[in-house]
Amino acid sequence: MERTVCDSIVLFGATGDLCYRKIFPALYHLVRRNLLAVPVVGVARQGWNLEQLDARVRESLKAFEPDADEAVVGRLIGLMRYVDGDYNDRATFESLAKTLSGAQRPLHYLAIPPSMFPVVIEHLSATGDPQNTRIVIEKPFGRDLASARALNQTLHAHFPETNIFRIDHYLGKEAVQNLLYFRFANSFLEPVWNRNFVSSVQVTMAETLGVAGRGKFYDETGTIRDVIQNHLLQIVALLGMEAPVNTEGESLRDEKVKLLKALRPMVPPELLRAQFKGYRQEPGVAADSKVETYAALKLHIDSWRWSGVPFYLRAGKRLPVTATEVVVELKPPPANVFGALDPERPNHVRFRLGPDVAIALGAHTKKPGPVMTGEDVELYVAQQQKDDMDAYEVLISAALIGDTSHFAREDEVEAAWAIVDPVLRGAAAPLEYEQGSWGPQQSEELIAGPCGWHNPGTRPEDWTRSCGRGQPTKP
Ligand code: BG6
Repeated sequence: MERTVCDSIVLFGATGDLCYRKIFPALYHLVRRNLLAVPVVGVARQGWNLEQLDARVRESLKAFEPDADEAVVGRLIGLMRYVDGDYNDRATFESLAKTLSGAQRPLHYLAIPPSMFPVVIEHLSATGDPQNTRIVIEKPFGRDLASARALNQTLHAHFPETNIFRIDHYLGKEAVQNLLYFRFANSFLEPVWNRNFVSSVQVTMAETLGVAGRGKFYDETGTIRDVIQNHLLQIVALLGMEAPVNTEGESLRDEKVKLLKALRPMVPPELLRAQFKGYRQEPGVAADSKVETYAALKLHIDSWRWSGVPFYLRAGKRLPVTATEVVVELKPPPANVFGALDPERPNHVRFRLGPDVAIALGAHTKKPGPVMTGEDVELYVAQQQKDDMDAYEVLISAALIGDTSHFAREDEVEAAWAIVDPVLRGAAAPLEYEQGSWGPQQSEELIAGPCGWHNPGTRPEDWTRSCGRGQPTKP
C-alpha cells in the first residue's frame, strides 16, 4: 500500500513526563535505526528555550538510555526545535506554523492533559491543513462512553478518522502483535479455538509498582479506566476476533470492533474492586478514596465462537510480580483412559505478554517407567530479541507512515467504553488487600472451574495455579 510519510513531528507537552520517559528515548532509537530524520518541534508553556529542551532530551536519555551513542544523540538534538506559548493563544500556533514552514504533512503528538485536547485541536485545524495533518492522541481517551464520544466528535469536526491515531501502547508491543500472528499464521489452533474446546480464558496484568508518584492522576482514574478499558480489552479482542482478511486497511480493526461489540456490558456482581492497604496515604490520593487499584472481572462474549466461555480479567498494582499473561484453558478429553492422569489439569495455551515474550502449550506426557501415569509439561518458546523495538518506537514510526492498524479506531474505543461504562459510577467502597499479595481472597470466588487463577511468575517459565483449590502448584 502506498503511504505518505510525515515530514515533521510536533510534540505538545514537550517538557512533560511522557516525553521524558517514553517519547525522547523512542525518538533516539528511531534516529539510531535511520527511521527518523525530520524536524521534531517541542511545544510547551514553560517559558523554555531550545537549549533547555535539548538539555531535557539529554537528561531523559541519560536516565533511560545510559549507553546512548553520542553521535546519534547529536543527530536527534540537531532535529529539535522549540516553540513556547499558551495552548489557548492563537499566537502560539501561528508561531508553530512559522517554525514548520515548508512542512506539508506534520504529525502532531498530543502528550498533554485531555482537558487541553479540544482547544489544541481547534487551533491546529485553523492554522494548518487538516487533510494533511496527523494527530496522535495519548490515552486516556475520555473517562467514560459519553466523554469519549464527545472527544471523537470534536476530532471529527476538524480531522478525518484516517488522520487520527489513538494510542494504546499495548498495540505497539511485540508480544501483543504476536498474539495476532500466532493465532492466524498457524492452522493447528483454529479447530480448537472456540466454545467446543476452550473452557475459559484468563488474562492477568500484575504490577509490583504502586501508583509511582501519579497519585492524583490515578485517584481520578482507577484500574478499570487505566488498564482494563484499553490494554486488557485490546488483548481480549485479539484473542477472540475472527481472522481479518489482511492487516492492511481496516480489516483488522473491523474484526476487533465486531468482537468488542459482542462483549456483554459488565454487571456489578461479576466485578470485584479492591484497593491495596496504604493507598490512601500515597501523595495526591484522597484520604477517603474509593478508587480501585485492583479489579477482577468476568466477561461474556455473545458470539457463535465464544458463547458460554467465560473470559476472566484481573489487573492490579502492588501485586507480587510484574507480568502480563493469558491462559486459555481447554476442556478435558472425553474419557480418562489412563486413570492416573489428573483430569482437573486441562491442557492450555499460555501467552506471556510482558515484561518478556513467551508462548507455551500445556500438555500431558507419560512419566518414564512401567506404569501408565502422566506428568504435565509445557512446550515452551521464549522469544526475546536484544534489540526489540519498544512500543512507542513502533507506534511513532507507524503514525509517521500513516499505518492506523496499531491504533484504536473511533468505534473501537467507544465499544470498549460501552463494556465498562455500567460499572464506572456510584461505586461502593472497594475491598482491601495486602501489598505484595495476589489481591483479595474473594477474587477466587469469581472464577469457576477447578484451577482458579493462574499466577504468573517473575520468570516466564515459572507460574502457579491452584488446581483443586489447594496449595498453588507448579504445572
Ligand atoms: C499504562 C498505565 O497505560 O500502562 C499504567 O497508565 C501502567 O498505570 C502501564 O503501569 C503498564 O504498562 P507496561 O507497558 O509497563 O505493561
